Amino acid sequence: MSEAPQKTFYLETFGCQMNAHDSEKVVGTLVSQGYRQVPTVEEASLVLYNTCSIRDKAEQKVFHRLADYKKLEAQGKKFGVLGCVAQQEGNKIFERAPHVSLVCGSASYRNLPQMLIQIEDGARRVTGLDDRATDECFETEFTARTNPHRGYITIIEGCDKFCSYCVVPFTRGKERSRTSLSVLAEARQMADLGYSEIQLLGQNVNSYRDPAGRKSFAELLLAVGEVQSIKRVRFTTSHPRDFGRDIVEAIDSSPALCDHVHLPVQSGSTRMLLAMQRLYTRDKYQECISWIKSARRDISITTDVIVGFPGETEADFEQTLSLLDEVHYDGVFAFKYSPRPNTPAIGLEDAIPDAEKSRRLNVLLERQRSIQKSRNQKHIEEHCEVMVEGKNEVRNQWIGRTSQNKTLNFTADSEARIQPGSYVPVRVTAAFPNSLVGELVGAVSAS
Ligand code: 5AD
Ligand code: SF4
Repeated sequence: MSEAPQKTFYLETFGCQMNAHDSEKVVGTLVSQGYRQVPTVEEASLVLYNTCSIRDKAEQKVFHRLADYKKLEAQGKKFGVLGCVAQQEGNKIFERAPHVSLVCGSASYRNLPQMLIQIEDGARRVTGLDDRATDECFETEFTARTNPHRGYITIIEGCDKFCSYCVVPFTRGKERSRTSLSVLAEARQMADLGYSEIQLLGQNVNSYRDPAGRKSFAELLLAVGEVQSIKRVRFTTSHPRDFGRDIVEAIDSSPALCDHVHLPVQSGSTRMLLAMQRLYTRDKYQECISWIKSARRDISITTDVIVGFPGETEADFEQTLSLLDEVHYDGVFAFKYSPRPNTPAIGLEDAIPDAEKSRRLNVLLERQRSIQKSRNQKHIEEHCEVMVEGKNEVRNQWIGRTSQNKTLNFTADSEARIQPGSYVPVRVTAAFPNSLVGELVGAVSAS
């Protein structure tokens, strides 16, 4: 008797680390249901896209992909759209791409096994769409982590901030935190599996509220840092409104907490911050920065900026540039404003021409490039511990990451026992805007 052919799936992920980690959970769930992951669309019986709708370009990508592969439907392939575009567009996706048979937002992933059975039984249109009020979280024992050394843990899902430009409160629902007990259990489990770095994830990680009332966010950071054999703890993304001094004190007191804070500012103009509904002023943001800078440890600071938000004048933009000069960020992710459906700002006229948005973006990136170069030059001659991520064979250089989250490419003599996942000391010898260069300290070193 011949066996039924194995069910196969292909999954492509767009967007942020939350999506990347959701995909790890989705993969684990599908594998637990008897599916096998394959590397190409052609080999798969089920094709899934985990989508992002933060900006228009990200959203368009999934529709291009669906159009590219539409002809493969005739071979019996099924298509599914997961994530933020699924939640945002809902049933409209079936109209735009009739070959799609599954549309599922992130708050419904725990129902995926039942949805898969429906699709296998021939259902044409299966949906998992929640309203904002959902309490659902996606905790699963079946996470298929892609990196064997650094692992993500979601501690809070959703967002209640409603920044006027942002779709996330609509696509990911209201804020809901996991208990600190369950987060710590997952951290210990990961340590037992050999992970040495943990990254705590949430749209607003520092809005974390332990439903059992046991730990504040800073206390949770400390507790994860104390888990045996965890060497590095990172967290992203923090919101300035909920950023307390206790977070800086935690970093100062626990060597396992990495010396890096990502604190999106979005604009240096208080007038724009008000229009963006960011819930803080430039001065209040600067106060958070002063706490970070007065820490005993040298904490790197990175941020997100939006240029060309409706009503942004040249003077507002200049204020963003002056903030970059004052803070001296170690990294900036900058974006042109993109109007998004459902958001409060959609009612405002998007009057700044795209060419002007591009100009502002380039001016900002150019300014930041020279700031980053001078920031990085300060590391020359320092000894940094790096976690080894891989090797660039062409350049015969190892690729490492510092606690400050900077890439440090280094050379080592051929006898050194280096492998991905090990922690080694490196002396910094040169600096570029986006990376450092160095050499291994000592002849042989391994974790
Ligand atoms: N347009 C441009 N950038 C946006 N971001 C969020 N929404 C938008 C939008 N509508 C940026 C913000 C946020 C980052 C993840 O994406 O800077 O911090
Ligand atoms: Fe979006 Fe603002 Fe929530 Fe961040 S805090 S996810 S930018 S609404």
